Amino acid sequence: MCGIIGFTGYLDAKEVLLEGLAALEYRGYDSAGIACCVKEENPIKIIKSVGKVSELRNIVPASLDSGCGIGHTRWATHGGVTVPNAHPHHAGRVTLIHNGIIENYHELAGELAKTGRTPVSQTDTEIAAMLIDSLYEGDACDAIKKASERLDGAYAFCILFADQPDVIYCIRKGSPLVICNTEEGSVVASDMVALLRYSKEYFVLPESQIAKLTKNAVTVTDLDGEPVMPQMLSVNWDMSAAQKNGYKHYMLKEIHEQPEAVLRTVTPRIKKQGELLIPNFSEDGIPDELFLSADRVIIAACGTAMHAGLVGRILMERLLRIPVAVEVASEFRYEDPIINEHTLVITVSQSGETADTLAAVRLSREKGAKTLSIVNVKGSSIARESDYVLYTHAGPEIAVASTKAYTAQLAAFYLIAFRFAYAKGTLSAQDCSAYMKSLSDIPKAIEDTLLSKDITKELSKRLTPSHDLFFIGRGLDYALSCEASIKLKEISYIHSEAYAAGELKHGTLSLVTTGVPVVALATQPDVFAKMISNVKEVCARGAFVILITTPQNAPLVDRSVADVLISLPETESEFTPFTAAVILQLIAYYTSSYRGLDVDQPRNLAKSVTVE
Ligand code: F6R
Repeated sequence: MCGIIGFTGYLDAKEVLLEGLAALEYRGYDSAGIACCVKEENPIKIIKSVGKVSELRNIVPASLDSGCGIGHTRWATHGGVTVPNAHPHHAGRVTLIHNGIIENYHELAGELAKTGRTPVSQTDTEIAAMLIDSLYEGDACDAIKKASERLDGAYAFCILFADQPDVIYCIRKGSPLVICNTEEGSVVASDMVALLRYSKEYFVLPESQIAKLTKNAVTVTDLDGEPVMPQMLSVNWDMSAAQKNGYKHYMLKEIHEQPEAVLRTVTPRIKKQGELLIPNFSEDGIPDELFLSADRVIIAACGTAMHAGLVGRILMERLLRIPVAVEVASEFRYEDPIINEHTLVITVSQSGETADTLAAVRLSREKGAKTLSIVNVKGSSIARESDYVLYTHAGPEIAVASTKAYTAQLAAFYLIAFRFAYAKGTLSAQDCSAYMKSLSDIPKAIEDTLLSKDITKELSKRLTPSHDLFFIGRGLDYALSCEASIKLKEISYIHSEAYAAGELKHGTLSLVTTGVPVVALATQPDVFAKMISNVKEVCARGAFVILITTPQNAPLVDRSVADVLISLPETESEFTPFTAAVILQLIAYYTSSYRGLDVDQPRNLAKSVTVE
């Protein structure tokens, strides 16, 4: 949510900034801007535009000669999408970019107004720039420190001071910043994808510490000016992992990367024990005790990550026989949740930066619960602040709609449920091993599912003019329906709802009329007959029924109830979420694509939601 980049060094700063912003655009794309240090009377040149980074590029003069600057791509929070509200913001000697929300900006604006300072934008960010400028007496760190004591909320700032050319100062609280230094210069960004061009080695700026970037070095100090040595991290993927590689959209590429994402998440955690295959988290440092000592589990996450949790809940309750609840992280933090040292809180997050999920980790720890996070981005805030972390190895996910991160999160939940049920004795070693064998076969099953792309293309053509659509299922299929629904609506802008199939007739069935598409998931043998009854109910109201089922169940389907029948590749019934997810993602993808929409960057959304 908002992408930040800063560079000082020996390259053409405007190019570094514009390329970095293009890589970060998935974090926000309603306006963009850069500020560069130039050797003119007015030493900082600011250029901003509404729209995408490509529009900004069109107005940046080729003659702009600078080796230092900061750039920002915005997802509007305070103030509309206008050039004055776009970043960078400028006040006196200070020019800055910001990711986050300053909650007390109104009060600060009131105080600053008394000293004759009036903002030109409607943003909280300009108030922060004004505050820092009002505190600046030649010592940048001192001004930043004093400002941080006044600012409430979340922020990552990159700051230029007019009298310190070619130097960038950074501080963050709650919003991410990663930094690297190479022979070409020093770079700071919201996300590693923008640094990758320069280095695979980087560090995450610790919270409430100040980084000073010069052409040759990066120094970090705490707020008292004491030097800090941040922990260096590295990524094992390269630029190609963050590019489209011939696919029309990142989303389509990421859908096709799911076999590998699952393989990389699962393989290092399956160990041979004699002839048996048993999941093992010793390399992740996650002890069995974590589950054995828990009398309840709460899964807290947002959006798609929360939907992975819905699948995780069913698996864990079935196998571990302890209560598992799934909470929307943004609600959880304000519900005064009943948790204690016997509660295990599992948070799930691709980015590892989602503000509400991070708050759930903090709250849980405060209340004495143990926290385990399932996270994709190494070194992210949620990973660092949780007691234990299980990384998914999905690689960088650029499309706003999450696909491979979701199936990798599912894989993580399967590993967790099987390992701890085995450790607890509720699952025999033999059964656990059989499940592990099935899980190892999932990457191949996903590959097979991808072969049936054409059915989803055809179907999507039929769905393109729809206004409303329903996904129904029971048990695991209901959990999947929730994910299918968010995927479709976020990128195709077609209204859809996910319903527990038995619940439809308690109100929503009145919306199902002739031709309304209903996607019915019927993969679970124990509720298959019940599902077919529910399908008949919508069929009787004239719905256009798309039935997704398994090869075992397909022959049992009365074809008169399904306009389209999609049979998934053969897997154990517990594992159908993986293959069904791929079909549902493809339906969303092609529907959006046929509607001519911006699949990777749907309106109003951003990838990493670092504000509440
Ligand atoms: C939907 C989607 C979002 C994210 C949600 C949480 O496709 O991607 O719903 O799942 O914003 O983000 P993370 O996983 O980064 O915490």
